[in-house]
Amino acid sequence: MPKPGVIAAVKGFRDVLPDESRQWEALEEAARAMFVRYGFGEIRPPILERTELFARSLGETTDIVEKEMYSFADRDETGVTLRPEATAGVVRACIENGLMHREPEVRLFYLGPMFRRERPQRGRFRQFHQIGAEVLGRDDALADAELLIMLTRYLASVGGKDVALDLNSVGDSACRPAYRERLRQFAQVHLAGLCGDCHRRLERNPLRIFDCKVEGCREIVARAPTVLDALCEDCRVHLEAVRRFLDQEGVAYRMKPGLVRGLDYYSRTAFEIVSSGLGAQNAVGGGGRYDGLVAALGGPRMSGVGFALGLERLAMVVAEPGATDRALAAVVLPLGEEALAPALALATRLRNEGLAVVLEPAGRSLKALLRAADRRGARLAVIVGEDEIRAGRATVRDLVRREDRPQALGLDAPGPELARSVRVLVGAPS
Ligand code: HAM
Repeated sequence: MPKPGVIAAVKGFRDVLPDESRQWEALEEAARAMFVRYGFGEIRPPILERTELFARSLGETTDIVEKEMYSFADRDETGVTLRPEATAGVVRACIENGLMHREPEVRLFYLGPMFRRERPQRGRFRQFHQIGAEVLGRDDALADAELLIMLTRYLASVGGKDVALDLNSVGDSACRPAYRERLRQFAQVHLAGLCGDCHRRLERNPLRIFDCKVEGCREIVARAPTVLDALCEDCRVHLEAVRRFLDQEGVAYRMKPGLVRGLDYYSRTAFEIVSSGLGAQNAVGGGGRYDGLVAALGGPRMSGVGFALGLERLAMVVAEPGATDRALAAVVLPLGEEALAPALALATRLRNEGLAVVLEPAGRSLKALLRAADRRGARLAVIVGEDEIRAGRATVRDLVRREDRPQALGLDAPGPELARSVRVLVGAPS
């Protein structure tokens, strides 16, 4: 509880502080580098969209649209919503900007915040962040497979631990209606054993009973007919082709016939990236094919497939950065007022060469300054005092090894030479 008079952040909203930001930046950069290799370009759609965009695309009866959206009337009474996900907005942007007419297919990725008013818990927030990618204009299995190959390569490149790919097909408009009916009939027979929520799900969207966490329901659902057994020929052939491509490229996956997604726009391929290390909120990412979405939002008949990863959860399952991976290369310590000018000049020259440097204020003992430098998490302390000014060379102390280094930095040396010396001292590639 914050003290009286202190304003706390809104429940479920959190600050991302520099240590965590640094890790996010690395994850974001690795995503950009990987996705660009597969021909994707970055899109930055707005965070606020018209409410009807989500109602029409995610499904009126989904949890998100029913109870989790931050929706309000704008001052001109337009109904607007903080985006709970980005796929709908990306599709809207493609239609509005005519992107699908420019190239045979659209390949876009995005990074940014999403908002869902869920109950906060470990790994679940009301503002969270996603890294996602969408391909529009491809209905072939190779598009699904390539997306999954890119996704799993990305996860491997950032050191994702204990992550697995769960795969399913949720059928299409040809086979899903009959399957839904079969499921409803099965559930009718077992109605007494199902919870109240599942009774409601049966009315509105029977596939959702697969998501129920109640033990009794799970036992019943485990015996339910699966959509995999009910796929039409086209869906079956599509799924088999996706699996063949994944096998060819050595992408491991588990078939999960009970995997249904929390959004209504999916058809055929559906998947999730899960991690055993995450607890209840074990999905690091998810996605699938959405062949009807573009047309439902007023665009041409055009297929789509995509995924999104939750950045907070991804950060929880990747390897921690190493202990010696200190972000700051050096802290410059001026001993006394007269050392300020040469210390500032030294810091400027190092920063101009791309090194991260902090300059401490003067007026404290060397011991106090060294303690401050250590707290800042720097690798090196560069000391500029009376002796150093006289000799024209700063003393360098290694804060990790806790020893002075014989290499001294010339106070009048040119920037590139100084930076080279510092890089050698911190063991960084030059
Ligand atoms: P989603 O499964 O709703 O899919 O979300 C993707 C990921 O976002 C989840 O696996 C999870 O890691 C993260 N996430 C979702 N809600 C929260 C939350 N409250 N707190 C923290 N993390 C969360 C989509 O959003 C689809 N748009 C994915 C997609 C793209 N499908 C096709 N294209």
